[in-house]
Order: sequence, then C-alpha cells, then structure tokens
Amino acid sequence: MADLLYIEASPRKERSHSIALAREFLRAARDARPALTVDTIDLWKEELPAFDGATIEAKYAVLSKQPHTPEQARAWEAVQRIIERFASAPVLLFSVPMWNFGVPYRLKHYVDLVTQPTLTFRFSPETGYEGLVVNKRAVVIYSSGGDYSPGSGNPRPDYQKPFFEAWLRFIGINRFDAITVAPTIAPDGQVGSARAVALTQAAKLAREYFEVQS
Ligand SMILES: Cc1cc2nc3c(=O)[nH]c(=O)nc-3n(C[C@H](O)[C@H](O)[C@H](O)COP(=O)(O)O)c2cc1C
Repeated sequence: MADLLYIEASPRKERSHSIALAREFLRAARDARPALTVDTIDLWKEELPAFDGATIEAKYAVLSKQPHTPEQARAWEAVQRIIERFASAPVLLFSVPMWNFGVPYRLKHYVDLVTQPTLTFRFSPETGYEGLVVNKRAVVIYSSGGDYSPGSGNPRPDYQKPFFEAWLRFIGINRFDAITVAPTIAPDGQVGSARAVALTQAAKLAREYFEVQS
C-alpha cells in the first residue's frame, strides 16, 4: 500500500499548471518524508473500462440486492479492482483542470466507476446515503483559465469545485484541502503571480501533511 495515491487529470503534462502544482506538493512531501511511497494514476494512460450497460446493471443489481448475471459479474469485478486501488492509500492527491465549467471527461469517467454501492457508499431508506471511504484525506489542486474566485466578477459558472467536492463528501471524504491556480489564461504577469502563490501553498500543505511532528 502506498502512502499517497496521485490521480492526474490533465493531459497537458509539462504545460499543465495543475500537474506542476501536484509535482511541487510531491517534491515537498518527499522532502518532509523521504520514505514516502506514491502510486500514480495518469487518467490519460490508464485503461478505464467503459461505464456501459453491463456496469450500470451491475450497480443497480447491487442496489436492489439481486444476483449478477455473468456479464454483470465481470463488469463488477473490473469496478472492484479499480476501487481497491483507489481505496488503498490514506492520502489522495488530485490535479483537476476546469474543462467547460466542469472537470475533464476522463476524470468524470473515473468518478463514475469509483462511485459504487457497498464499495464507496451505501444507501438504506432508514439512514439515507452514507459514504464508505472514511479515514482518508485528500488534496485537490484546481486549475482554470479564468478566475472564478468569489469577488472575481466572473459571469460564468463554476461546476468544477462544487461537483468535485460534493463527490468527495458523497463517498465519505470530508477532510480535504484545496489549492487553486487561476487564472492560467491571462496576461503573463497575472498567471505567474497566481502560480507562484499556489506553489508556495502546495509546498506548505505538503509539509503539514507529511512532516513528522516533534
Ligand atoms: C477542453 C477545455 C475546456 C476548457 N474550459 C474552460 C472553462 O470552462 N473555463 C476556464 O476558465 N478555462 C477553461 N479551459 C482552460 C483550462 O482550465 C486551463 O488551460 C487550465 O490551466 C487547464 O489545466 P492544466 O493547465 O492543468 O492542464 C479549458 C481548457 C480545455 C482544454
């Protein structure tokens, strides 16, 4: 089991702001804890099974406590393997770009695969929905071309953070920290200073997570 699972959602690699921030977090985390072990899921390289009819029927069968057909059982096994890896590390690190006001579709695909009854949440008519991914912390690094912070006067909606954080809470991850690098599409000086602030925040947060308290 790794100490940290890093889930990377930008395909822009060396040009990506969210990845640069995640790398800075990891650099400072390793500085603070040299033995830190990291598992990385690059959502642009990872083979994700289609979230198709069989997977959905497998999910509904679990919800309604029905047995799986062989096809549904195969789909469910694939989902279980993905969730095993997702649930294994005590700390999750996400780099999350804004795409069309929300998140990149590869990340949404991953979220759909991971959000499964009995594995990451449960439901009962008496108690409602309950997240099962407990005892875990997450760090989320958001990037967006525009500035969506309160007071920015941005007339466009932000479905990136509200969606992602509602999802974290839904599956039981209530302890998370977020860092935003924005705007990333703006005059150079503005991008540079937003990025410098976020890099400092990332290093500081990594020390808070991984420095041994004396
Ligand atoms: C397909 C696509 C859609 C985008 N949609 C938005 C958007 O709705 N709002 C915004 O502010 N920026 C948008 N951007 C700009 C990205 O948020 C910006 O380039 C950000 O830095 C991407 O993260 P990254 O640098 O980590 O790849 C979009 C970029 C792409 C590629």
